[in-house]
Order: sequence, then structure tokens, then C-alpha cells
Amino acid sequence: MARTLDGVAVKGLRVLVRADLNVPMHDGRIGDTTRLERLAPGILELADQGARVILCSHFARPKGKAVAAMSLAPIAAALAGVLGRPVAFAADCIGTAAESAVAALRNGDILVLENTRFHPGEETNDRDFARALASLGDLYVNDAFSAAHRAHASTEGLAHLLPAYAGRSMAAELAALDRALGNPARPVAAIVGGSKISTKLDLLGNLAGKVDRLVIGGAMANTFLAAQGHAVGRSLQEADMHETARAILADAARRGCTIVLPVDLVVAEAFAAHVPTRIVPATAVPDPLMALDIGPASTAALIAGLPRLKTLVWNGPLGAFETPPFDAATNDLAAAVAQATRAGALVSVAGGGDTVAALHHAGVADALTYVSTAGGAFLEWLEGKTLPGVAALG
Ligand code: 3PG
Repeated sequence: MARTLDGVAVKGLRVLVRADLNVPMHDGRIGDTTRLERLAPGILELADQGARVILCSHFARPKGKAVAAMSLAPIAAALAGVLGRPVAFAADCIGTAAESAVAALRNGDILVLENTRFHPGEETNDRDFARALASLGDLYVNDAFSAAHRAHASTEGLAHLLPAYAGRSMAAELAALDRALGNPARPVAAIVGGSKISTKLDLLGNLAGKVDRLVIGGAMANTFLAAQGHAVGRSLQEADMHETARAILADAARRGCTIVLPVDLVVAEAFAAHVPTRIVPATAVPDPLMALDIGPASTAALIAGLPRLKTLVWNGPLGAFETPPFDAATNDLAAAVAQATRAGALVSVAGGGDTVAALHHAGVADALTYVSTAGGAFLEWLEGKTLPGVAALG
């Protein structure tokens, strides 16, 4: 586990924190402040210890140019609201603007630097750009697990130029992932949903070697069912992945991992909110119909299996949860997972894109052991890949 600042005297030091301020933004308004809330305790801890806290981050994908709509200024203002403290802002992350903003800091002050991706050197992990950033700090803290799959100057390069530490939310994330898959209490199961096998091949392969049960939901299940020769009607599936799906099933069986596919499905004639639905066996979806959620018998079996589990990792909704009633399985299972977690019977760790939205939709995001705010980084970690930002912390 990477070292933290525990026991390090930071008073008066310029602590350069790589945060992930890449929050969802719609029409100039922040959609979700969870990432800011997760960062807040670590920032306040440093400030309260008298550090001069300098936050750097990317936001969106400006591709090496200054793009006004991708400025971090509004996010710095939102962060000030979350922290309940003033937050200064520097109009650039290197050069005179950044240097004078840093020079003006007093102990305990907090500064946000402008979007690191306004400079091409960020994504190319350019040494000179990283050096210019490094010159602003005495210590480097990486508190951006969700950007740790990027080998960029601020996520990777800096760790080689300054004494480097894991921040509080990074350390919490790594500890949770270790409990989930690194060193889990067994039996451990994973739920993988989503639409395409082709984008989750590495994930399925890695999980099959690590978990006792691998539950497949979402449209991905249709591809497995079709590969087994079952009629899937007009359900979304990947016809060119049948061979691969069969290979995944055979490989999992060899490694002692039970793959759990749905036994029934909720089907409809069209994908629209509140359309008439039917429940059919997963082995026989009639031709004009399409599967949009796993069925009640499948969900009930998953819920009935929870007491036998010690650990659950969840990535991807079971059905088309954004369009009711195809949120039923995801909601019901989420509620049962939350209950088992609250009862202390289950360690539950979830993450990745839609999963967090689905858990919020189910109203239980706060009830799981840990919900990662990372998208790509969480997936790459589940795939067993080394994350450059974590590796660089040593
Ligand atoms: C994320 O939101 O997943 C991270 O901030 C990484 O963003 P990126 O995919 O633009 O590198």
C-alpha cells in the first residue's frame, strides 16, 4: 500500500495535491459533487495542519489547448462551497500566474490551479511540464484514484519529481479495492452488467480467476444465452462474440468460477418507459420481443444467494435501469445488498460509470461498504491492470 502523509509535518509546506475535479457538468452546472465531497476531508486535514494546499486537476478533454468552457474556475467555486472555506484560483497551472498565486498563499490556504489539460505536456507526460508543476510544491499528494489509469504528468510524472504520497481518498479507495478483490473474505462474487462483452473481455477474464461466482446481467447476458443456442428474439446482443462467450464459460469452469446467467427475463416489444412487459424463460425469448431486464426469478435467486457470500463486487446495472420498469432487478438487488451490508454480513464494493448512477437511483449508494467514484480506473483495476498513478507512488 502506498505511503500516506501520516506522521509527516506539513506545516508551512507547499503540498501539491493531484485531485480529480473532473465532475459531471451540464449547461455550466455541476451535476454531481460526490468527487468534491470525497476530497474535502483530506484537503481540510492538510489545511488544518498548516499546509499551503495547491490542487491541480484535469477537467474534461480540451486536448492541450485553453478552452474557456473547460475552465476549473466554476469547480473551484463549488469546492469552496463544499469545504466551507475560501479557495483561491490561478488562471494557469504553471508559469507566472501559478507561481504568484502560490507565493501569495499563507499556511492553511487552499488554491486551485487551472486545468492541467490546457497544456499538451500533461497528457504526453512531458518532463518539462511536470518539472514546471513540481516547482510549485514541496510535496506531492496523489488523491485522484479515478485518474490513476492515466500516465500523465500530474498523475504519474510528478511522483518521480517530488516526495510522493497517497491522499486520503486514494488510500481509502485502494483499501476498499483490496478488501473487494485483492484479499477478499470468501466466498466472493462479482456482478457484471452492461451491454457489451467486447468491452469487458479483460474484466471477465480477470474476475473468473479471482471470484467464486460471476453473475452476468445486462444485455451482455443475451450474448451468453445466444452463444448457448437459446432464442434471444430482438434482444441486444453481439452475434460475433458467441465463440468468445463460450470460451469465457469454459475458462471460468476450468478455474472453478461459477458463471450465473439469468433464468428469466423481462421482455417488451420496444425499449420505452412503461411499455407493456412480459416475463419469459431466459432460454426462449419470442422473436418480436427484446429482453430489457433480468426477471424476478433471477433476481430472487441472487438475493437468496447473498447470505452465502462474504464479499460482493458490482460493476454495471442488471437491466436498462434508466427506463422504468427496467430498473426493477437493479433496484431490488441493490436494496438487498444494502441490507446485508448494513447488517454487517457482506462487504460490498461497487464502481464504474453507470453503476454509481444505478445505486443512487436505487437510493442505496450510501449503504454499501464502498462506492468508487472512478469510472475507467475502477474498470482497469478490476481488469487486473497496473494503474500508472498508483504504481508511481511505490
Ligand atoms: C474520469 O472521470 O474517469 C477521470 O477523471 C478520467 O477522465 P478521462 O477519461 O478524461 O481521462
